[in-house]
Amino acid sequence: MKGYDDTSYGAAFADVYDDWYKDISDIDATIADLLDLSGGGQILELGVGTGRLAIPLAYHHDANAIQVFGIDSSEPMLTKLRDRDHEHRVKASLGDMVDNLPEGPFALVFVAYNTIFNLRTHQAQAACFAAVAARLTPGGRFVIEAFVPDHPPRHGDDISVRSLESDRVVLSISRHDAEQQLAEGQFVEITEAGGVRLRPWSIRYATPSELDEMATVAGLALEQRWEGFGRTEFGADSARHVSVYRAP
Ligand SMILES: C[S@@+](CC[C@H](N)C(=O)[O-])C[C@H]1O[C@@H](n2cnc3c(N)ncnc32)[C@H](O)[C@@H]1O
Repeated sequence: MKGYDDTSYGAAFADVYDDWYKDISDIDATIADLLDLSGGGQILELGVGTGRLAIPLAYHHDANAIQVFGIDSSEPMLTKLRDRDHEHRVKASLGDMVDNLPEGPFALVFVAYNTIFNLRTHQAQAACFAAVAARLTPGGRFVIEAFVPDHPPRHGDDISVRSLESDRVVLSISRHDAEQQLAEGQFVEITEAGGVRLRPWSIRYATPSELDEMATVAGLALEQRWEGFGRTEFGADSARHVSVYRAP
């Protein structure tokens, strides 16, 4: 999308993110699995955003001694995180999830809720695997939560209504390029009082097997795959996956 860069998502969504996406996943199950997978070592979240997961993780009673780090390319998203992080438990920094990762080493690096797809080329996603692998402890884990692309993949334009009120409508307009594995769109919010507000997003999706290949190239091996946190069983019809990759 012309004019879209790594700061666009956060600039457009920081004000509504916590409200719109508060119920997208089971946070308690996610935190329990992440703490278990970390084995008590340092944790890094890529695209940490407003701290939807990093804050409950860092403040969990079982995480007292665990250092939680986060990286995000959006200052407005990190401002939301810091506003909630009263005890400064999350070491969050502004930067790119390929080029600016903290040194580590980390027992667990995770990237939740399709955020790996914010890297909009195969090369950038593969580079992310390599950067993470270089910062894992021996036996450390890289956990990815993402959707499984439709099969056959969606192609063409789409429009739907996200919400409808008497003085406000939010339309979801998207475009899908199956060949390039790209999807991009706008949430268009129209209100009587405020006029029009655009919230753009753009992703490059990958299948679980393409992610597995990137992991292999980076020297990581698939240890487990679930449909979701809480360790629900992954199957041929699963629309989502949580994949756990492990360093030697
Ligand atoms: C869908 S939000 C997810 C936020 C959080 N992980 C969660 O699960 O609620 C995606 C986040 O990735 C960030 N992001 C996008 N591209 C990035 C990049 N190249 N490097 C670091 N963060 C990025 C955005 O600013 C945004 O905060």
